[in-house]
Amino acid sequence: MIDLDDKTALITGSSDGIGAATALLFSSLGAKVAIVGRDKAKLNKVAERCEAKSPHNYKPVVIKADFAKDEDVVRTFQETISVFKKLDILVNNAGIASTKAFGDPDYLNDYDRVMQINVRAVVRLTELCVPHLTRDYGSIVNVSSVAGLRPNPGSWSYCMSKAALDMFTKSMAGKLAPHIRVNSVNPGGTRTNFFSSRPDPKAILTLLADKQPLKRVAEPQDIANLIAFLASDASRNMTGSIVVSDTGLLVADPYR
Ligand SMILES: NC(=O)c1ccc[n+]([C@@H]2O[C@H](COP(=O)([O-])OP(=O)(O)OC[C@H]3O[C@@H](n4cnc5c(N)ncnc54)[C@H](OP(=O)(O)O)[C@@H]3O)[C@@H](O)[C@H]2O)c1
Repeated sequence: MIDLDDKTALITGSSDGIGAATALLFSSLGAKVAIVGRDKAKLNKVAERCEAKSPHNYKPVVIKADFAKDEDVVRTFQETISVFKKLDILVNNAGIASTKAFGDPDYLNDYDRVMQINVRAVVRLTELCVPHLTRDYGSIVNVSSVAGLRPNPGSWSYCMSKAALDMFTKSMAGKLAPHIRVNSVNPGGTRTNFFSSRPDPKAILTLLADKQPLKRVAEPQDIANLIAFLASDASRNMTGSIVVSDTGLLVADPYR
């Protein structure tokens, strides 16, 4: 049974997609949430929906921040703790895709940006939050990807960033036990705006649905359900787990 009643949760990248679905689910389960992203208008819409879903009418803490900037990561932590005072759950979800192939003009700047948002911001935010995470409940859920487990030469730096994130999850799980648990959710293709920088995002989701043996991509709510499970005491014996939800991509027959 997933019980998040009155838990405090900081969920990054929650103006859209998986993070927004997670904020809505946590709110409906009675949690107090802090939501973060660059787009204030989108955040405000998510906040309204969270409040409407909350059995306690809790209003989310809304934080406009760009994780490309270290100072915004620090401010996200400060604004969250100044309201909540303590934190039960940290969901490191904000992430971006790579846009440059290896060797393309400017590819190293793209690599730096991917590593900054997908890895460095997670490391720094985690470092700041750990002393404030409740002992004997505190739960960190990192949103990684099957890309961290399976190479894709076209998205090489994104794959590297998620592989690094998975090792961070495992390293921190060992370090922070027995008081704080750290787990990872690794989605395959999921129907969000993640592919919006590509020329035809719909075609990518159709292609992924075809390649993934269950013949569909995940919906953001599917991944949010798993995040809620890992965030809650329902998974109390799990730490350091890399939990894949990929409609079968990793077990697809390579010859079909
Ligand atoms: N969709 C998939 O197929 C898929 C598959 C595997 C893993 N994932 C992972 O799932 C996570 C969530 O992605 P999604 O699919 O939900 O994509 P999404 O719909 O594009 O959402 C990404 C979220 O991250 C935030 N974000 C992006 N850049 C940011 C920055 N510089 N500073 C602060 N926030 C930033 C966005 O907010 P703003 O735009 O408001 O800044 C948005 O709320 C990512 O870590 C991604 O790697 C996705």
